[in-house]
Amino acid sequence: MLTDKLRKIYDSVGAEALFVECDFLRRYLTDFYSTDGYVLITEKECTFFADFRYIEGAEKKLAGGPVKVVCGGYREALEAAKPYRVLGVPYPYVSATALKLYEKEGHETVDAMPAFRAARLIKSDEELARIRKACEIAEDAFNDLLPELKDGMEEREVAALLEYKMRRLGAEGTSFETIVAFGENGSIPHYATGDRVLRFGDPVLIDFGCKYEGYCSDITRTFLFGDDKKHAEFKELHAKVLMAHELVKERVEAGMTGRQADAVARGYLRSKGLAETFSHSLGHGVGLEIHEYPVLSPRGDDVLCDGMVFSDEPGIYFAGKLGIRIEDTVCMKGGRVVSFMNKTSRNCLIL
Ligand code: GLY
Ligand code: MN
Repeated sequence: MLTDKLRKIYDSVGAEALFVECDFLRRYLTDFYSTDGYVLITEKECTFFADFRYIEGAEKKLAGGPVKVVCGGYREALEAAKPYRVLGVPYPYVSATALKLYEKEGHETVDAMPAFRAARLIKSDEELARIRKACEIAEDAFNDLLPELKDGMEEREVAALLEYKMRRLGAEGTSFETIVAFGENGSIPHYATGDRVLRFGDPVLIDFGCKYEGYCSDITRTFLFGDDKKHAEFKELHAKVLMAHELVKERVEAGMTGRQADAVARGYLRSKGLAETFSHSLGHGVGLEIHEYPVLSPRGDDVLCDGMVFSDEPGIYFAGKLGIRIEDTVCMKGGRVVSFMNKTSRNCLIL
């Protein structure tokens, strides 16, 4: 028997069967993580084909549940799919080689991705609880880290310490490569953490997150490592980014598009003469993937509604000088934006 969640996806794809190889979609369907495996969904049942590396773990975790676990790989999964002529497969996550193989096996394919996208846009209570926990771990780790920052530490050392703390607090891993940028390095929005050494008076930008039971958190904080009295302008700019961030929480409502949400922050920064320096979008959906739907950008058509989870992350950047970004993972609840992040300060902390 299919669960309501699986039935809804199956019905909306409209194929005879769904055939899924992609790792995070497999996880979405089965709630079991594996690097390889295949999921076949027919009108009657959902089968997970796991190889010898995963079969024992999968049988244990999924015992008694709605997903049937079968030992096997590509051959066994394709054999089981043979009777179903039209297969739904997620086009963006299927290689040309795999598509050709399905055709060779006599299948016609349709794109299952729109159905997955629609289902994943609205998080269930279980998904929200996992994201909340991932946010809590990230914030606790950050608060633990701050008193341990010392003159002379390298960016990569700080990143390693933060990741270690998240792991100890229950994280499965990071949501993405942790960004620790000291001083002028903050001006590169997706800076590659390096060996720059922390010095008194440096601005620090840390963008990080962890995974908990498959689900991500995403958070950025920007602050000063000591006050060398040279950062009056930095503090003023920080207050403006913070205002843009808070205005989103205050003014964005269900029914607005991602474009309208983006315009709340962008419009404010424009009024302060900073529009040109806000060089990326306001936010992105957060879930099993760190970047998913909805899109909150000048091109974002998604209509925001309850159950959606996304980032609120305005940032401004001055090449070679400084960058300031303030980011929370938030959800839409009761028509309003509610943050998952309540434990860390968003202010321009001075350590
Ligand atoms: N916080 C990292 C990102 O949004 O890509
Ligand atoms: Mn982000």
